[in-house]
Amino acid sequence: MDHPSPHVLLFPLPIQSPINSMLQLAELFCLAGLQVTFLNTNHNQKLLLRHTNVESRFRQYPRFRFRTISDGLPEENPRSSVQFGELISSLQAMAEPFLREILLGSSSSSSDGVTEAPVTCVIPDGLFYYAVDIGNEMGVPVIPFDTISPCCLWVYLCIPKLIQVGEIPFKGHDLDVLFENVAGMQGLLRRRDFPFYRLIDYATDPYCQIALKEVESIPQSNGLILNTFEDLDGPLLSLISSHCPQTYAIGPLHLHLKNKVGEKRMPISASSNSLWKEDHSSIQWLDAQPIESVIYVSFGSMATLSKEEILEFWHGLVNSGIRFLWVMRSNLLRGEELNHQFVKELAEGCKERAYIVSWAPQEKVLAHSAIGGFLTHSGWNSTMESIVQGKPMICWAVYVDQRVTSRFVGEVWKIGVDMKDMCDRYIIEKMVKDLMVTNRDEFKKSAEKLSNLAKESVGEGGSSYNALECLVDDIKKLGR
Ligand code: UDX
Repeated sequence: MDHPSPHVLLFPLPIQSPINSMLQLAELFCLAGLQVTFLNTNHNQKLLLRHTNVESRFRQYPRFRFRTISDGLPEENPRSSVQFGELISSLQAMAEPFLREILLGSSSSSSDGVTEAPVTCVIPDGLFYYAVDIGNEMGVPVIPFDTISPCCLWVYLCIPKLIQVGEIPFKGHDLDVLFENVAGMQGLLRRRDFPFYRLIDYATDPYCQIALKEVESIPQSNGLILNTFEDLDGPLLSLISSHCPQTYAIGPLHLHLKNKVGEKRMPISASSNSLWKEDHSSIQWLDAQPIESVIYVSFGSMATLSKEEILEFWHGLVNSGIRFLWVMRSNLLRGEELNHQFVKELAEGCKERAYIVSWAPQEKVLAHSAIGGFLTHSGWNSTMESIVQGKPMICWAVYVDQRVTSRFVGEVWKIGVDMKDMCDRYIIEKMVKDLMVTNRDEFKKSAEKLSNLAKESVGEGGSSYNALECLVDDIKKLGR
């Protein structure tokens, strides 16, 4: 009897960070000889093709295909964090019939006429709980990839218990109350660190409802992929595996990929997966700065700030006397487009020590010797990229996993400070000086230690190296 050859369908959340991680995983699978289909939204595929060389990069893998579907929103919709709930539900309506069709095998002929093997494993983002139901219904294994931080995922997994014992919804308004029923985080996790910290009623909070559906789907899946490594998240990984025994901690993915690509002697340059045009003048500017003198400021791809917050950050940074490189995305300002004149005036006001771009080649920036620290929104990819480069962080968490991650950066890994809810120019000035000057040696030492552990994890025989081998082997077995 003929066995179908392993064919993986990857389906990322339609935002920068998960697209980045899933493309890295796709390339690792291609290098391991798997057939891969990458399902992207039409909107993001257009941006990806416009701003990167992804098409030519993946052409070297003949068993790789992009497939695209509509996300169900009109082209003019800005798809910012405000519309995130709308985006997720409209995409679900489009994705469900597509997944059924492709898993039936009726979509096995691709646009270039090449006949593909049937899909033998689906890897959706963890938030796409419905893909687990569809896979189970159609007899196709599903291994979700949870692209948020594992510390936040563990908090999600504890939500049913927190509801049961009455810790949520919160009673009273004190945000410094500690949770008692999140194992492994006693004495650490406060209400203000909770992913949905303004939670009044979980039954009406759409994000909490999605998290609860995800929590239900995890034990129904065939495994769980996480972008972390044992030495960073070991205790939490043991707790998470009580809900899903087959957990694959294969991160930091971008470093893993660099190593593997290096092994095969393929070109690793220009490996951007950016949905925005990268401004490489940021690297030229950094080339002219002294070693470890610059703090890099970026709030990821979706987080927004009010104008008052932007100004507090600006004044805090300027008053610190430290040089800085700031990514001011066009959609950084909450509720309106960032005014070009406003950005120009800011830049003019401190041009001898500051540089502003609208999107940077972040991995290259963080790897640059002029960078001494990172002021970040604590998105999971940014956090992993900073850990790999051994750069200490100041965390301004905006929502969801960022709130838990920033607490871990400050209190567990001790590789930075957590500003949490205190956007004030004097605090910012003090924290920047603290990170870059006063306590620099201490932060640098712990950040470098973690960086070395990250590197070991993806080296031959390391925990993430082994977990990836195991994942690929398991997928191959599913194909038999
Ligand atoms: C989103 C959520 O906001 C976050 O909470 C969750 O952890 C992941 O999904 P995002 O805002 O995209 O994250 O931030 P992050 O996870 O930090 O990823 C941003 C990615 O964009 C990184 O890989 C980073 O290298 C890249 N980036 C960012 C650039 O290449 N250039 C930039 O200028 C900024």
